[in-house]
Amino acid sequence: MSTALVTDLNLNVEKNGFLDIELDPEMDLFAEIERLKKEKNAIILAHYYQEPDIQDVADYIGDSLGLAQKAEKTDADIIVFAGVHFMAETAKILNPTKKVVIPDFKAGCSLSDSCPPPLFAQFKAQHPDHLVISYINCSAGIKALSDIICTSSNAQKIVESLPKDQKIIFAPDKNLGAYINKVTGRNMVLWNGACMVHEIFSVEKISKLKLRHPNAKIIAHPECEEPVLRLADYIGSTTQLLKYTEKDASAEYIVATETGILHQMMKSNPQKTFIPAPPNNSCACNDCPHMKRNTLEKIYLCMEYEVPEIIMDEELRLAAKKPIDRMLELSAQFGLI
Ligand code: 13P
Ligand code: SF4
Repeated sequence: MSTALVTDLNLNVEKNGFLDIELDPEMDLFAEIERLKKEKNAIILAHYYQEPDIQDVADYIGDSLGLAQKAEKTDADIIVFAGVHFMAETAKILNPTKKVVIPDFKAGCSLSDSCPPPLFAQFKAQHPDHLVISYINCSAGIKALSDIICTSSNAQKIVESLPKDQKIIFAPDKNLGAYINKVTGRNMVLWNGACMVHEIFSVEKISKLKLRHPNAKIIAHPECEEPVLRLADYIGSTTQLLKYTEKDASAEYIVATETGILHQMMKSNPQKTFIPAPPNNSCACNDCPHMKRNTLEKIYLCMEYEVPEIIMDEELRLAAKKPIDRMLELSAQFGLI
């Protein structure tokens, strides 16, 4: 690529967060993406909240723990991260020698944004004898201020592995933190952050839906608020929710998490019915606006031109890596692979 083209591409990304380049509408994006994967030894890692087409071109689809584990182990030269910024950043932290590209640099996360590092550093200083466990949905700056990272699939086990009298700060998700406090009997100090998607579910509407579908099981992500979690028959990470629907004998489920997961649930269980839990107003707010910034066109463009790329300061990367490594070691010990 010429220097002039690289400058143009970077300016384009700076302005839009993604490459805003017109594509031939007749282009077979699926075939082109497959070609680029082979030509560039690239792997597409996608989160379950991505739109179905993206899930269908992905080499691996997973929850945050699975994606971090896969990113750490891959021998691809380019990691295309179809998810949000903190996920791609985690892949870069674990894999500094690989190129990590993200379809849209502006695919952020309300939960991560709810915890700015300078404010969190002050909060941490107010609790000097506390260990910091941070949910992976946070920036590298927060990870660097943490002792252990966790995800929704290992948070309970990580907390239980610590001595009962260990004082803990849990950040940034107050809902996941409150849920872990409840199931472990701990009293972790919680940062006041939340996910905009999981806070929107309506207890009243879910209860009415349950009356119309009395045999449906309610399954929920632990980022939901406590009144929603109280209604749930099963609570877990996206992968755990999917696995539950594969093993459980029910024919119908009310699903309280982002709607993207329904694609894999329906693929794995074509004979079952999945109903998205309703939000508390008439918007489609149980679609994550950040996750849904990614499109198949943007995947193709970021593979073709290799931007937007995740670039990290090395000192920050090393500081953020320590608590992620701790999580990966503990997860392996727990058999969560
Ligand atoms: P998991 O896929 O790890 O359950 O996380 C859900 C989520 O909100 C990711 O942003
Ligand atoms: Fe962040 Fe919530 Fe979107 Fe997940 S669903 S990326 S936690 S805003």
